[in-house]
Amino acid sequence: MGFKSGKARIVTGLDVGTTKVCALIGHADENGQLRVLGMGSSPSQGLRRGNVVDIDRTVQAIQQSVGKAEQMAGLAVRDVYVGIAGAHIISQNSKAMIEITNPLRGVHSRDIHRVLDRVKKIHIPEDRQVIDVIPQEFICNDQGGYENPETVACSKLEVRAHLVLAAKTAVQNLLRCVSQAGCRSRGVLLEAVASATAILGESEKHLGVLLLDIGGGTTDVAVFSGGNIQHSGVVPYAGDNITNDIAHALKVSRFDAENIKKKYGCAFAEMTDPNATFDVTGVFESKRMCISRRHLAEVIQARCEEIFELVQRQIESALHRPKLFSGVVLTGGTALMPGLVELAESFFHLPVKVGVPQNVQGMSGVLQSPIYSTGIGLLMHGLKSHAVHGFGNGHSVRHFFKMLSSIIDL
Ligand SMILES: Nc1ncnc2c1ncn2[C@@H]1O[C@H](COP(=O)(O)OP(=O)(O)OP(=O)(O)O)[C@@H](O)[C@H]1O
Ligand SMILES: [Mg+2]
Repeated sequence: MGFKSGKARIVTGLDVGTTKVCALIGHADENGQLRVLGMGSSPSQGLRRGNVVDIDRTVQAIQQSVGKAEQMAGLAVRDVYVGIAGAHIISQNSKAMIEITNPLRGVHSRDIHRVLDRVKKIHIPEDRQVIDVIPQEFICNDQGGYENPETVACSKLEVRAHLVLAAKTAVQNLLRCVSQAGCRSRGVLLEAVASATAILGESEKHLGVLLLDIGGGTTDVAVFSGGNIQHSGVVPYAGDNITNDIAHALKVSRFDAENIKKKYGCAFAEMTDPNATFDVTGVFESKRMCISRRHLAEVIQARCEEIFELVQRQIESALHRPKLFSGVVLTGGTALMPGLVELAESFFHLPVKVGVPQNVQGMSGVLQSPIYSTGIGLLMHGLKSHAVHGFGNGHSVRHFFKMLSSIIDL
């Protein structure tokens, strides 16, 4: 993987997550590698399950994180690539066809725009909008497999594409926060697609892989096979639910539950010592309690299994027999939980690993954590393209192919 180098192309990724808002400023160095120049992270208190519910708090968190990143990078930024998630996200695969008026001249960039415009025109509820169109393949006179059909002589051009749909109000609220924070959105990208850009290799996407970005508020799902995205979606449960479950089960505060989760948590109960215990202070009368680590793990495991079940159901209803020969890649902060890989292996009967951003220079390895997959993916996307919401908004077809390559070819 390499990017066109040059200091002029400085871009900013803005991951507005449920737990933290993270801004990353970067550019492609002289070797074409992504170099992060500045990073700022602020606790996020204005989102629930990936959705903005408090504009003011979200604006503040964006301002703080962008400010910190600017200070570290020693430069001011305005344009940002923003990630979006939330339970309102749905996806669907669609197909469209157009006639080519002058078949011998070959497919023109205008024809590609036309067919991509047509593939978006599916029947969707009033309150939804298409936020991304990701072509899977172009088909020229019934011959499939074209990544770029430009100049191919044919009378009929078809496209198969993956469409990502979001609630209009959710997109508006996110963009309002970005602009009130003094930034300008260059593009909105599904967080699962951004994370995939940062951590998945080309061969994994070809062989078939399930990516799960398990954050604080949402589990973002993406399925790739044959080199293309086949499904994307969101399950509205993640690490925050594990913390709440621990708080209820152990009768401790949420604050303590979060610390207990990170210090003693394990997602696979049979990996824990049945005799191991730890002490905590309960919320009632500040009573000291001795808790079994096995019991804690059972609480965590139950929620993780529920998340995996919802993911499996979502994929089964979207895809007929998905091919996942590369297995499952876990990322997002919850992927740091010990035992989660083992639990996922036993649940999905597939090889499982934790994915962290690859080939990132700068910040002394701090960003090689599953927590930063979305932010790094947004930066990579920004470096590779100038794409904004969907197509047909004045960008040349070359820009479109740059964006396509950022999603499919990395
Ligand atoms: N060591 C750890 N063990 C278990 N869980 C952890 C660990 N470190 C972080 N987490 C959990 O990861 C979650 C945060 O992950 P992340 O930063 O990816 O979320 P986010 O991007 O802010 O949220 P989302 O993407 O859901 O909107 C929190 O629930 C946190 O408790
Ligand atoms: Mg996230």
